[in-house]
Amino acid sequence: MQLERILQKHGFGTRKGCRAMIRNERVAINGQVCDDPFADVDTEHLIFSVDGVDWPYAEFASLILNKPAGYECSRKPQHHPSVLELLPVQLRERDVQPIGRLDEDTTGLLLITDDGQLNHQLSSAKRKVPKVYLATTKHPVDQAQIDALLAGVLLNDEPEPIRAAACEIAGECLLRLTVTEGKYHQVKRMVAAAGNRVEVLHREAVGELKLPADLKPGEWRWLSAADLQQLGYGQ
Ligand code: URA
Repeated sequence: MQLERILQKHGFGTRKGCRAMIRNERVAINGQVCDDPFADVDTEHLIFSVDGVDWPYAEFASLILNKPAGYECSRKPQHHPSVLELLPVQLRERDVQPIGRLDEDTTGLLLITDDGQLNHQLSSAKRKVPKVYLATTKHPVDQAQIDALLAGVLLNDEPEPIRAAACEIAGECLLRLTVTEGKYHQVKRMVAAAGNRVEVLHREAVGELKLPADLKPGEWRWLSAADLQQLGYGQ
């Protein structure tokens, strides 16, 4: 693929702007400066750098973010900044979007992608992808609440009771629960329907993919092939 096209695809601006960056020797291919915008570059395992910052060639931009509180999962946020502001401008330019939404005050694992197929697969109601949450509650958690969540609770506007796929007491005021749907405020509404109240909510995992312990709030990284496998992508 032509070098200027690679840069443009990765969100570095217009074709003309990318051409100028390359001519100004700001771009290197596998460590070697290349000033020819029309150079035909093999994209397999390619790492290019712009102004000394490495970028892996990525057909799609698929990322995992440790969402901090105080950010909205929308491209057009209303009251707080968008989670997309935590990403470099080049990724935002690629039209990436969060897969599903976490509330503004919810923290933890958020997937972001411009791969429509990945987004569709993980959001599809049919696939029932498990999402694991740790909820800090206002009142102590008891077995009756766990039993109610496992048996199913009726939420407003829902015709059928919704069951937690798994649910356990994780501390006096701590509840770990797994849901396979992605309904609005689902966990908070389910816990309220079971007679408690969520004070703090954190997502620990989606599918088999856990939030990496070393990914700090506000940090992101590319999804690896192994991560995508844990998400069941392509299966
Ligand atoms: N359930 C909620 O209530 N809030 C979230 O952010 C995610 C799931």
